[in-house]
Amino acid sequence: MIHILQCTLPIQMKIKLRSAYMIKPQVAKQHDHILFDRIANICKGNPRVAILMSGTGSNTQAILEQRHRYPNLNFAAIATDELASQASLIASQYKLSFIFAKHHDDHPWRTKSFFYDLADKLRYLNINFLVYAGFMKIVHPAFLIEFPGINIHPADLTIKDKIGIPRYRGLGVIQQALVAGERYIASTVHIIEAKTDCGLVIAISKHLPLATGIIYNADKLHEELKLKYEHVLYPQVLTLLGSGRLSYDQLPLRAEYQDLDIS
Ligand code: GAR
Repeated sequence: MIHILQCTLPIQMKIKLRSAYMIKPQVAKQHDHILFDRIANICKGNPRVAILMSGTGSNTQAILEQRHRYPNLNFAAIATDELASQASLIASQYKLSFIFAKHHDDHPWRTKSFFYDLADKLRYLNINFLVYAGFMKIVHPAFLIEFPGINIHPADLTIKDKIGIPRYRGLGVIQQALVAGERYIASTVHIIEAKTDCGLVIAISKHLPLATGIIYNADKLHEELKLKYEHVLYPQVLTLLGSGRLSYDQLPLRAEYQDLDIS
């Protein structure tokens, strides 16, 4: 009996492992496909949209300035976790509702209660789609079930590490790209997931090339990336989603090699 177990267990484990590796990418693809189709359908059906932001809000401004390009996306609110951000100012400028969801400062890791508070306020305004524009919190999974959305991040999320995870996530990604000797930086619009800067890539902006032998300032590069490319890419993606002209099979869009402007 012991002999049989010694012989058979490793084989069973190998089969299990192999099938897990074979199934996983397929399952991930199906998951992405379902999420994308859900978002594409919501965007076609006149959703009520809130923008989530924590900082200066230059992307929020760019999105709202160009809202005539996506008339069936009804921008109704701007939500923030930071009272010091520009959110309330921009909301009053565009006559949108302003939402402030509270941090639980005594328990900063209790993001669940933060997202419950935010969900209550979004529900009250009948919001059903979210556009993340510099919102600096990791989303709670339960929140995503009710409020799907898309995000922009100042890195090319198709650049992966050895185990297939996007290499530049979280804060300070431009400095990290400089240190790693990347030849360009870019921004990505992707579906929001409950992990930092992960989720199906929808579009990658044009590349801002980095020359060798130059000492760059990461903050200045970030401002340039936002101004030249993020403020163009995010409205382009919203235009495509809002007009129902984007399908899963086309992804990821690459502005460096494709013309993403549509009439
Ligand atoms: C943008 O560059 C956006 O890509 C980034 O925050 C900035 C917000 O700027 N988002 C992330 O880093 C998400 N991980 P803004 O407030 O001027 O739009």
